[in-house]
Amino acid sequence: MNAAVRAAVRCGTGHGLEMIGIRRGFAGLIEGDLLPLDNRAVGGIIERGGTFLGSARSAVFLTEEGQGEALATIKKWSLDGLVVIGGNGSLKGAKWLQGQGVPVVGIPASIDNDIYGTAMAIGVDTALNTVMESLDRIRDTAVSHHRAFVVEVMGRSSGYIALMGGLAGGAELVLVPEFPESLDQIADRVIAGVKKGKHHSIIVVAEGFVPADSPQAGKAAGRIVSDFLEATGSIETRLTILGHLQRGGSPSAFDRILASRLGDAAVRLLADGTAGVMTALIGQKVATLSLAEIDHPSGNFDPEIYRLVCEIAN
Ligand code: F6P
Repeated sequence: MNAAVRAAVRCGTGHGLEMIGIRRGFAGLIEGDLLPLDNRAVGGIIERGGTFLGSARSAVFLTEEGQGEALATIKKWSLDGLVVIGGNGSLKGAKWLQGQGVPVVGIPASIDNDIYGTAMAIGVDTALNTVMESLDRIRDTAVSHHRAFVVEVMGRSSGYIALMGGLAGGAELVLVPEFPESLDQIADRVIAGVKKGKHHSIIVVAEGFVPADSPQAGKAAGRIVSDFLEATGSIETRLTILGHLQRGGSPSAFDRILASRLGDAAVRLLADGTAGVMTALIGQKVATLSLAEIDHPSGNFDPEIYRLVCEIAN
């Protein structure tokens, strides 16, 4: 996100615009926590993860009072346009502001890659690289000790990280909310691998995975799978939950390039009088789609890739 802010600010000042940053997203907009940004203020941040402006999941913005305060800040600071960087929640907020007459351009940023209309969102590639590197490291113990490793990755309602991270990291099994297998089926697949001479197994589980036969509320998806496997007695099993390791760290080249392109595009759109849209990566090109469309399912989870992962794990 830092690369997007940096590009937006420098493109904006290049167009003669006055650029203002909002700390902690909608929370800062409500509280009036804004600061002028010049080109120097966004120096030395392209290599940093997260966002130097801060971020928040603002519950207050969902209230009428909070929304009123956000609109009041926009008026007080005489903001002519807003660039909103974030996932589906942030983009919904962007759509609402646009409906209130505030010119807004959205930039998709979510490691879940579950935003409609863009092939990639900011952060996805870096998170996938972290997952891949983690699986590479975990495999060393799995191979040496003949163990199964259950690795839980992020994705509350999307299996994208599990699927693509699992493919890149050579996982034997990928468990995703989109394909709810039963615990027995999972164990059968692992045991079949052992019988075929596979003495280790890497099982990547999306945090939103719920086994078809055994939903256990309150228990982490990875824990459910690893406890079940261990209890079969067929293979020694360990669990690793990657958690927020996936959401930090220096961004990959792909992410820095994508974010720079989207940040630049967002400001040029606003400067040209276009708003109510989200910037997106379609093929190799930066494109736009209406914020009205963002409620559609993203379609980035590809069942064909799920088939591929299953097939080449044999
Ligand atoms: O929404 C993106 C996401 O990365 C999910 O995959 C994950 O469940 C969630 O954020 C974690 O959010 P928080 O940091 O608020 O716990």
